[in-house]
Amino acid sequence: MSYSKPPCIIVALDFAETKKALHFVEQLSPTVCKLKVGNELFTRGGPELVRHLVNLKFDVFLDLKFYDIPNTVAQACLAAADLGVWMVNVHALGGIRMMVAAREALQAYGVNSPLLIAVTALTSYHENEWRTLGFKRNINESVLHLAELAQQAELDGVVCSAQEASVLRRCLGPSFCLVTPGIRLAEDARDDQQRVCTPEMALAAGSDYLVMGRSITRARDPMALLRQLNEVIIRV
Ligand code: C5P
Repeated sequence: MSYSKPPCIIVALDFAETKKALHFVEQLSPTVCKLKVGNELFTRGGPELVRHLVNLKFDVFLDLKFYDIPNTVAQACLAAADLGVWMVNVHALGGIRMMVAAREALQAYGVNSPLLIAVTALTSYHENEWRTLGFKRNINESVLHLAELAQQAELDGVVCSAQEASVLRRCLGPSFCLVTPGIRLAEDARDDQQRVCTPEMALAAGSDYLVMGRSITRARDPMALLRQLNEVIIRV
């Protein structure tokens, strides 16, 4: 791995109620995982919840996938930085001007700027569905192209499927941050994800950070599972 600052597992707090998310977080520690707040929980808990998690000393990835005109996305990234989050993301499909605007806005934060990454293609897409959107390139080619645009815009990295990570690592170099959702333990259900990998496969392919939602949130003992996974990570 090239870039990552441990812990490398980012737990997706996809809960329907803020209270349930907070209750779950009580079992965790910033030494075993980072946390991801996405659209569902943010729409319920808002900035107050994010600040609370930051105050608990967790590195927080605010996964709101901003996709709008450049000025709006730049201002939204600033609002995220004001919350003290560790990482924020935009859609690469918003284009290079939008990504540059976001990056330039965050320069005001200097060394305290959150990492800025871009979503390439959602890991829930499969090839047929991708093609129905009208793209000429297949998913793999599109992901590489979008990641190259993100790199040209000098973003810190991208969100991609672990199945694409090895190609991106090879083409985009060692210091481009790769964040991979769609992680499943061998015995897990895929749920709505299509392009899935195990944690070991994702790390071997060059992922820096593994986003894990349901595999952790549905576990009988999430803390024990996280400790076990962290040991695997040290060995890969
Ligand atoms: O439960 P599961 O492990 O599938 O959760 C994956 C998380 O990663 C969800 O919060 C989802 O929104 C997020 N995500 C994703 N694919 C992307 C970007 C984010 O699955 N390309």
